[in-house]
Amino acid sequence: KNIVILISGGGSNMAAIARTAEQQDWAGRHGIRIAAVVSNRPDAGGLALARERGIPTAVVDHRAYPTREAFDAALAEGVEAHDPALVVLAGFMRILTPGFVERFAGRLLNIHPSLLPAFPGLDTHQRAIDAGCKVAGCTVHEVTAELDVGPILEQAVVAVLPCDTAETLAARVLTQEHEIYPRAILAHLLGRRPVCDQERQAGSA
Ligand code: GRF
Repeated sequence: KNIVILISGGGSNMAAIARTAEQQDWAGRHGIRIAAVVSNRPDAGGLALARERGIPTAVVDHRAYPTREAFDAALAEGVEAHDPALVVLAGFMRILTPGFVERFAGRLLNIHPSLLPAFPGLDTHQRAIDAGCKVAGCTVHEVTAELDVGPILEQAVVAVLPCDTAETLAARVLTQEHEIYPRAILAHLLGRRPVCDQERQAGSA
């Protein structure tokens, strides 16, 4: 099973997924491998991280396309070339067209730095602080045509501290992202879902 990871920037989530896949031997134990890391930005720092790990990389530069649809079509081709069982958005800062989402429906995940459905969109940490939130966190969800609202797979919570700035809160949330994303990806690919004790005891799980 191939995973393609889409990035736009530093790629710390991609690196965490790659590190976990190596440490847990996803390839040997589950036949799961990261087939490629694709970025819409040629200067994305994550491209170097991927290359260091021997992961094939590609760039589909959105500035080279006249329309959002043309970019998404080129991106879809580049992604499809790796026959992905799962397409993972990791710090990917583009809003995908319905056509792209449709093409990969059911095998498209994203991580968002808030406790969805709270704070979809950008500047999530500052908004949480401004709202006086006592907790914040991150969410792994399936991608649908509407931004940041698909079915939720995993979440992690961090406390918002009185002295927090958006930067200090972001750093604590990012650490949790690196925990929950690899776990959600593996569970999704292995067809596992959280089971309640009653189901487990009934043996129906
Ligand atoms: C971070 O703000 C993270 O919360 C969000 O995307 C941004 C960059 O992530 N998921 P990464 O370091 O490129 O994975």
